[in-house]
Amino acid sequence: MKSNLLVVSNRGPFTIEGEMGNLKYRPAVSGLVSAVLPAVKKVGGIWLAWAGRLTEKTLEVQTVIKDDFNFVEVLLSREELKGYYEGYSNGVLWPLCHLMPEKVVLSEENYRIYKKVNQKFAQRAGTLLKPGTLLWIHDYHLALMPYFVRQKYSWQRIAFFWHIPFPPVEIFTIQPWAQEILRGLLGADLIGFHTEDYRENFLRSVERVLKIPVNYEWGTVYYNGREIRVKAVPIGIEPKNFQKDVPKIEEIEQDLRGQIIFLGVERLDYTKGLKEKILGFARFLEKNPEYLGKVILLQVAVPTRENIAAYRNYAKEVLEEVQKVNERFGHSSWQPIKILTRNYSQDELIYLYRRADTLIITSLEDGLNLVAKEFIASRQEPGVVILSNRTGVARQFGVALKVNPYSPEEIAGQIKTSLEMSLEEKEKMFAKLKEQVLLKNNEWWLDNFLGKELMLSVAPGKYYRK
Ligand code: F6P
Repeated sequence: MKSNLLVVSNRGPFTIEGEMGNLKYRPAVSGLVSAVLPAVKKVGGIWLAWAGRLTEKTLEVQTVIKDDFNFVEVLLSREELKGYYEGYSNGVLWPLCHLMPEKVVLSEENYRIYKKVNQKFAQRAGTLLKPGTLLWIHDYHLALMPYFVRQKYSWQRIAFFWHIPFPPVEIFTIQPWAQEILRGLLGADLIGFHTEDYRENFLRSVERVLKIPVNYEWGTVYYNGREIRVKAVPIGIEPKNFQKDVPKIEEIEQDLRGQIIFLGVERLDYTKGLKEKILGFARFLEKNPEYLGKVILLQVAVPTRENIAAYRNYAKEVLEEVQKVNERFGHSSWQPIKILTRNYSQDELIYLYRRADTLIITSLEDGLNLVAKEFIASRQEPGVVILSNRTGVARQFGVALKVNPYSPEEIAGQIKTSLEMSLEEKEKMFAKLKEQVLLKNNEWWLDNFLGKELMLSVAPGKYYRK
C-alpha cells in the first residue's frame, strides 16, 4: 500500500456475489468508479464501500486485499438499503439535485435510516484512520458522513466530492432536511463539484440556509472555527484505459452493417432524457425520409435502481417509445432503433464507441457525463458528439453539437447537421475534444482537486505525501 488515502463511497469498485470461499467479483458500472478507480490505483490506500451484499448482522465487514489498494466492504441490511439508498439518496437527493422535484418521495423514516447508515460508514472509517490519513468521501449517499467523522476526530483531514449536480437553493430546500445535509457536508475541509454553477449553488445554499457568510470568489466558508474550501474541478478519465485493442461484438453486427450509427450509452434513468432522444430521432426520420433504412440509433440502456417505482415505470415507457418508433418507421429488414438493455463491460463499450459514427447524449440534467469523454478517448477516427447543453461536460466540450434535450426539433436538426459535416469539420471538432480529454485527464483532476489543498502532490509519474 503506497499512501494513507482512505476513499469512501457507497458503490465500490466491484460488486461481490456468491458464498464465502467462492466469492465472485464483478466490476461495478458507475461514473464514480471509472473516475475514482484509476486515482486510487495510482495513489494506493484503502477503499471502503458497499459491494452490493446484504446481511442482517450489524457492522459485519470483510476485507479484500487487492494489489494496488485494499478494499474494505460495508454490508447493509435490506432495511438500510431501502431507507438509505433507495429511499432518501435516490428518492429525494437524486431527483432534487437533477431538478425533478415531482419525483421526490419524502419520508422521515427513510431520512432516519440514511442518517444511521452514514453513521455506520463513519464508525467503520474511524477504525481505519491513522495519523496522516486523508479521508476522501464521495457523493450524495454520504453527505452526513463528514459531520459524524468530524464529531469524533476533530483533527481529521476530510475531502468530499459531490458527483451529481447541486441544485439552486429553492429546489434544495424542498426537503425539510436541507440544513442538516449542508452541516453534514461542512464537516469536510475541502468540497468539490464538477462545475462553477454547482459550486455557486452550494455556496448560496450555505449562505441562505445556514446564514453563514461565504466568499464566492475564493470559495471559502468559515464554519465552527475552520476554513472550508469549495472548488469546481470536473472529473477526468484515464485515456490510456480506452486505447487498448478489444474484441468485436459479433451478435450486434448484423443490425449495424451499412448503417450510419448514432450511439447512446446510459443507465435507464429518468434524468438521462432517453424518451426525449427517441422523440428527437423520430422527428429527424419524419423530416428526412431519405435517411430511412440508412441510419440507426443504437441505444445501450443499462437497467438501474429497479426497486424504485419511478425507475421501473421509466424503463417500461422507454421500451414502449422504442417499439412505437420502430413500428412507425421500420420494416422487416430495418429497424431505426436498437435498444440493448444489459450491462456492457468496458471492453464492449470501447468497441461500440469505435463502431459508432456519432455519440448522442440528451440528458435532462447530468452532473458531468463521462461517456462523452470515454467516446473521444476510445477513438482514433474522428467521431461527432451531439450533446445536451444541460450536462456538466457541455462547458468543456464547447465545440460539440449542442442541443436543448427538451426540443425534438433541435435534436433532429443536430442529427442532420452531423450527417452533413465534412470530414475536415469532423476532424477539427474531434481534435479539440481530444485535446480536452487528454489534458484534463484523471491525474489533472486529482492534482487540481486534492493536490495543493491536502498535501497530496504529484511528482512525475507518481504521487507522494509531503
Ligand atoms: O454520481 C452518480 C452515481 O451515483 C455514480 O456513482 C454512478 O455513476 C451512478 O450514479 C450509479 O448509480 P448507482 O450506484 O445507484 O448504481
